[in-house]
Amino acid sequence: MASTNGITVRSATKDDLPAIVQLEETAFGMRTEQSDRELGPEVFPVERALVAVDGDQIVGHTVDRTMTLTVPGEQTVQASGVSGVVVAPTHRRRGILRTLYTEMHQRTEDEGLPLTIFTASEGTIYGRFGYAPTMVENEVEIDRRRAEFRPGTPDPGGVRMATIDEAKNHLYEVYDRWRRIVPGGQEQPEAKWKKRFADPERHRRGATSLFVLTHPDGYVLYRRQWRDEESAVIVVEFRAVTPEAHIALWRVLLSLDLAHTVEATLADNDPLPYLMTDPRLVRVKGRWDSLWMRLMDVPAALTARTYRTDLDVVLSVDDPFRNAGGTFALRVRDGIAECEPTTRPAELELGIDVLAGLYFGTHRARAFAAANRIQAKEAAALRAFDEAFTTERDAELGWFF
Ligand SMILES: CC(C)(COP(=O)(O)OP(=O)(O)OC[C@H]1O[C@@H](n2cnc3c(N)ncnc32)[C@H](O)[C@@H]1OP(=O)(O)O)[C@@H](O)C(=O)NCCC(=O)NCCS
Repeated sequence: MASTNGITVRSATKDDLPAIVQLEETAFGMRTEQSDRELGPEVFPVERALVAVDGDQIVGHTVDRTMTLTVPGEQTVQASGVSGVVVAPTHRRRGILRTLYTEMHQRTEDEGLPLTIFTASEGTIYGRFGYAPTMVENEVEIDRRRAEFRPGTPDPGGVRMATIDEAKNHLYEVYDRWRRIVPGGQEQPEAKWKKRFADPERHRRGATSLFVLTHPDGYVLYRRQWRDEESAVIVVEFRAVTPEAHIALWRVLLSLDLAHTVEATLADNDPLPYLMTDPRLVRVKGRWDSLWMRLMDVPAALTARTYRTDLDVVLSVDDPFRNAGGTFALRVRDGIAECEPTTRPAELELGIDVLAGLYFGTHRARAFAAANRIQAKEAAALRAFDEAFTTERDAELGWFF
């Protein structure tokens, strides 16, 4: 395999696992729990890992797994989900990440997967590899004692308390329904559920183990973090397949006594603020970019999702990392796209990272154009392109990796 400056990149084996754990712990600055060590390789099999080796030392690592990912229009596509990207602090800035990424993306290309996805530790690193953030998470805090539902808000009920053991099958079933309709939802492997249920001390950060509330069309996993006599409710996972489930679960969360606040993560268009007499109480404390994406095959990726409006446009796409760029004609009729290379002159020019930023409809083409990252010959072409990529539902990440 690839070899530069005395560093060799090769496939990992089971024997490498202790050295990989040591490298990840050092690079991410955290200790792993027993359950993470046992279940981690079941989620991301070591056979899919690449390691960079200097003599007898492992100094770099990356791994992926093929994920079934929902994209706009309730369609699914196979994507490479990348994780555990680390280079030893003793070996930084010598091109090891670039070498690992080159090998990994070559394999993804050979396997014919149209998208690669991951969550990024820093915002400045991955644009050069054709990636862009593609969804938004709002970290909100609600003053529970002042929260009131607007008069006339339904009270659908149907929420039950449950233990993890009692709720397991319900969680699997609801999650699976949820991820099929939400862009960004991935099929969830059994080992990932086991990791969640193991609920090790490190994941709790001083809060309690998980509490569960179920509804026929939803569920919530949450913790309580005690400070003196009162607590904060920390929502770890909230899934609602219907608006009724959303209201019913929020009604119970906001009626948890002895809690001054409820903390949760919401997509931009979550209906919660509109249910409140005082929408300001849903206070945004932070915004996070969540999932990053790269298009490996522009026609395959663009035809995998659906579109809001008809479109005829020629795009010139620049790929600074691989050879996925080129000039493409994108034609949409009744939501369904056709896309193929063309020799016609381009109407819009953009980087492949910008196309990834637009893919889930979270970020708008008109904003990228205003930032000089889309060049449009005609304002009308930009308007049509901007409109067509909007979506009916906000993208949300199914499970973090
Ligand atoms: C981030 C990390 C993997 C980079 O590894 P590395 O081997 O030093 O990276 P490389 O030398 O191959 O750099 C590749 C490119 O990214 C750039 N880059 C790397 N780290 C960067 C950073 N922190 N900020 C900005 N740019 C960075 C380099 O300048 C280089 O650019 P170029 O190839 O266009 O000249 C490594 O620093 C690390 O393990 N950090 C801690 C764990 C972590 O954050 N992992 C990422 C999880 S998503």
